[in-house]
Amino acid sequence: MDVFQAIDERHSYRGAFTDEPVPSDDLRAIVEAGLEAPSGCNAQSTRFVIVNDPQLTDRINAMPEANTPIRQARAFIVCIVDRNPPDVYKGLSFQIEDCAAAVQNMLLAVTALGYATVWIDGWLRKDGRAETLGHWLGLPTGKTARILLPIGRPAETVQRKEKMPFEERAWFNQYGSPVSLSEQ
Ligand SMILES: Cc1cc2nc3c(=O)[nH]c(=O)nc-3n(C[C@H](O)[C@H](O)[C@H](O)COP(=O)(O)O)c2cc1C
Repeated sequence: MDVFQAIDERHSYRGAFTDEPVPSDDLRAIVEAGLEAPSGCNAQSTRFVIVNDPQLTDRINAMPEANTPIRQARAFIVCIVDRNPPDVYKGLSFQIEDCAAAVQNMLLAVTALGYATVWIDGWLRKDGRAETLGHWLGLPTGKTARILLPIGRPAETVQRKEKMPFEERAWFNQYGSPVSLSEQ
């Protein structure tokens, strides 16, 4: 699949998954796409745990207030960052940006392989869920689970979110410039 088609087809999926397992090779290919993402100062700071052991997926599926894709996922990719990210450039850390770039690459890879997922972030950060998951996955004390991707074959078609038009969010040369001026 061409990258623009993957960008166009990617969407957050919160529906049911089929029972079809996700082969390890596909999970690996998805995470390889994450590893290829850019990172601040090339620190490559994000770590990944691929969860496909049924005992672990069952535990995550049963977490309180999990929505449908989490409850039914056959596999998860857990993205891990440092609790206290070190400075990598003049007092700056880029771990959240590094992680987000890796996740976006993986969302496109998930789409290209015909799977579905949703970027789970807020839910994971609430009510001690990241800590619980970190404990199950054996994370070192300095690391925390930051983003969770439930993965599976979509069992349904969901309504895509509409995006605002180009003219409302993007301009050539000057913020808010009218089209007639901006495309000269
Ligand atoms: C930083 C970030 C955090 C998100 N956290 C969640 C989340 O915790 N749970 C969830 O269901 N979706 C989450 N999403 C998915 C967004 O809700 C979704 O991207 C948005 O509604 C646009 O829909 P689309 O992805 O289909 O284009 C998150 C997305 C981003 C980028």
